[in-house]
Amino acid sequence: MADLILALDLLDPMYAREVAESCAASLDAIKLGYPLILSAGLGVVKDLADLGLPLIADFKVADIPNTNGLIANQVFSAGFDAIICHGFTGRDAVEACVDAAHAYGGECFVVAEMSHPGALSFFSRGVAEQIATLAVECRADGIIAPATRPERIRALRSVVRSRKIYSPGIGTQGGDLRSVLPLVEGVIVGRTIYGAADPAKEAAVMAAIVNDERSS
Ligand code: XMP
Repeated sequence: MADLILALDLLDPMYAREVAESCAASLDAIKLGYPLILSAGLGVVKDLADLGLPLIADFKVADIPNTNGLIANQVFSAGFDAIICHGFTGRDAVEACVDAAHAYGGECFVVAEMSHPGALSFFSRGVAEQIATLAVECRADGIIAPATRPERIRALRSVVRSRKIYSPGIGTQGGDLRSVLPLVEGVIVGRTIYGAADPAKEAAVMAAIVNDERSS
């Protein structure tokens, strides 16, 4: 039962709103990151709130515990429902994000392994498994694992068991939606939707595949 999550990496706040609104009926959540927030400001969170979808802050927070806590508090005060942090920073830094998230009734996801080719420089050799183990021990709600490497999602599933796995890398980065859906609780899709000639139509096509998988 996977969610379809739109990565809204657009720079023009008006167009971002237009795309989000047109796709909303097909989506389960929207992920916002540095591109849109740095361009539009944190206020964009309130602008999108009326769509009624959970909003995930993808800041890949990776600082010392005190700073992580300050960042996470800003994120949840702004109206976000979930935050993504890095795990290589260690237990105390991850716990600062998890604690802040849970204090607001929100969720925290820890990046276990990234989806791009260069990620293999450091995330191989068991590091991702160690980060996923840490995420579980820190009571994180889930991890981020690469749609570009389904075999790695399977390996990390054995570590996180019933915790959620959200997976970016579908479409433009090469990940296959149908192959990844049975493995995760959420797929994160950016350019394949917002870069399509008709984003609403593309989101609807993907949502239909997600719903097929849900009912199979
Ligand atoms: P595209 O356009 O490739 O966008 O569909 C993917 C979105 O997901 C983010 N991304 C990641 N986030 N770990 C993460 O936490 C990853 O391994 C990863 N790979 C991609 C990316 O920033 C974009 O918003």
